[in-house]
Amino acid sequence: MTQGPSLAPAYSFLRACRNEPIGETPIWIMRQAGRYLPEYRAVREKHGFLDICRTPELCAEVTAQPIERFGFDAAILFSDILIPLIAMGVPIEFDPGPKLGSRITGRRDIASLEWRGAASLPHVRPVIRAARERLAGRVPLIGFAGAPFTLACYLVDAGASKDVALTRSFLARDEAGFAELLDVLAGATIEYLKEQIAAGVDAVMLFDTQAGWLPPGDFARAAAASADRVLRSVPKSTPTIYFALASSNGQLDAMRAIHADVIGLDYRVSLSQARAILGSARCVQGNLDPAALVGPPEQVVSRAEAVLRENGGRPGFIFNLGHGIYPDTPVENVALLVETVRRHRNAARRIV
Ligand code: CP3
Repeated sequence: MTQGPSLAPAYSFLRACRNEPIGETPIWIMRQAGRYLPEYRAVREKHGFLDICRTPELCAEVTAQPIERFGFDAAILFSDILIPLIAMGVPIEFDPGPKLGSRITGRRDIASLEWRGAASLPHVRPVIRAARERLAGRVPLIGFAGAPFTLACYLVDAGASKDVALTRSFLARDEAGFAELLDVLAGATIEYLKEQIAAGVDAVMLFDTQAGWLPPGDFARAAAASADRVLRSVPKSTPTIYFALASSNGQLDAMRAIHADVIGLDYRVSLSQARAILGSARCVQGNLDPAALVGPPEQVVSRAEAVLRENGGRPGFIFNLGHGIYPDTPVENVALLVETVRRHRNAARRIV
């Protein structure tokens, strides 16, 4: 009997990223490997955060933990958006939030960032290879980076204000200088993502967590334009996701210009309105409020069902939270969330 070429496994997550019609809703959640998981806390008791990120066996173990416990449809590499900044010479500690030992205050400080290429992050290939081995083809692996604007916020504000006032002031004071900073960060991020893809990640996500502090015009000119430059450099065969904590229609409108297959939605926006703004060719990911997962079980089910109903069975949809999971989330509620999305998937299958 002749056999056709072997088909790549039809991962629901990758099919959703490509807007292919599927009768199921893939689910994974931001920060799915982390402190809400007892098995993560057990590893963390013995090892530092950065050691886990850089040691192949530890990184692979922690990356796979949420897959093994809950059966999510995608894994995300255990790492942090700030790791490339450490390779650029910025002193950073995690406690558990990042503490930066130096700041960029203006154009003259940009030269202090020393990006010496992906070779300055020698752990990247080994940790990705180890994570892939551990996952053994069960689910695709998502790589990621911080978007240039959000990285700039960490460098300029370094946690000084909640609404990145110092970064917005730098942009207002010296737009060309700020563009130079974004340029340096975009160049490094492009190489960092290419390195992850060469090592075998199946999709990449760009986190622009701080971009939502910008008004729509600045969002378009600074955050979206620099994210777009990064995402355009990713090979077409690798699906891309752009996530910003962005809650205004003006910001969503600016995202239309970003070259990303999938837009990750903030928990504060209406999924159906966001879809109307972004257009039907664009896939979306989101957007359950992470706070819903610390509520009673009935609320987990009803709020997850509301998100599924709002999507209305359209393809190009990946279930996720609208921001990272909270460390005090009961694991039973995460299991219940996955079960709820799966039940919906089976119901959809019966209709198809
Ligand atoms: O999603 C995943 O499971 C993959 C791992 C991941 C981490 N950070 C692990 C982490 C990812 C994708 C990130 C991205 C990240 N890091 C973002 C963008 C997304 C977002 O959540 O807004 C940002 C802004 C950071 C910067 C950062 N790193 C913060 C604000 C913190 C403290 C957060 C906290 O939970 O207290 C970190 C540390 C960090 N990154 C931890 C983890 C699991 C906690 C470290 C520990 O275990 O002590």
